[in-house]
Amino acid sequence: MTSVVSPQIDLPQHIAVVMDGNGRWAKARGKARSSGHKAGLKAVRLCIQECVKRSVGALTLFAFSSENWQRSEIEVVAIMGLFFNSLESEIKKLNTNNVRIRIIGNRQRLTLKLQQRIAQAEARTAENTGLNLQIAVSYGGRWDVVEATRVLASRCVSGDLRADDIDEVIFSKNLQLAGLSDPDLFIRTGGERRISNFLLWNIAYTELHFSDVLWPDFAISDFDLAMNSFSSRQRRFGLVSP
Ligand code: IPE
Ligand code: IPE
Ligand code: MG
Repeated sequence: MTSVVSPQIDLPQHIAVVMDGNGRWAKARGKARSSGHKAGLKAVRLCIQECVKRSVGALTLFAFSSENWQRSEIEVVAIMGLFFNSLESEIKKLNTNNVRIRIIGNRQRLTLKLQQRIAQAEARTAENTGLNLQIAVSYGGRWDVVEATRVLASRCVSGDLRADDIDEVIFSKNLQLAGLSDPDLFIRTGGERRISNFLLWNIAYTELHFSDVLWPDFAISDFDLAMNSFSSRQRRFGLVSP
């Protein structure tokens, strides 16, 4: 018997966003790159708000990649400072909106103070049952896969797991997005058509949407465009059309 795809579900349940274009936004205004990152906060709030309003289950935002550590110290310090301050200033509103926040990525590279603030923010929103918000900081898709491999390998060495028992389900349980469904929609702003080491494993069948808008300019109309584009897609997951 031939399998057919299930009917199109119009609303993505999980959206992943590469928030790109802050530096160019600032440059166009003759400002420092850090002012672009600061201006991008407005679009972060907007995106979270829209997801809450539309009952999207999960939103995963790429804020800082494993490779972004190689930028100038001035820029890295500015981004980390912005992140540190926002975690404190936004938490009340996130709580009011029933948002559960989690940070994914290599925390060991973050300062102890930032690690503590992250732990506080996660604890304060842990019981919330609305939007699952993931912020990817010091995150790389390859790092994520290697970390999962390391955990599974050590379980094999200790005799807790047999190599033959490793499958896709067990593997994905050890990735940063464990417990969440794969993103349905991937949005990248800033005009580049690439993944830049975001969620490599999890986006195997994600619908991709690229926007030329620079992240600080990302508006509700741009969010709508992405949603409309998604609802016009036919997802087949390797099967055939009805
Ligand atoms: C995205 O904006 C934010 C980070 C990568 C931290 P960029 O800083 O990459 O902005 P552009 O691509 O240089 O314009
Ligand atoms: C991707 O943007 C990372 C984030 C948005 C956090 P980059 O600006 O780092 O990606 P490339 O260098 O253009 O591929
Ligand atoms: Mg960029």
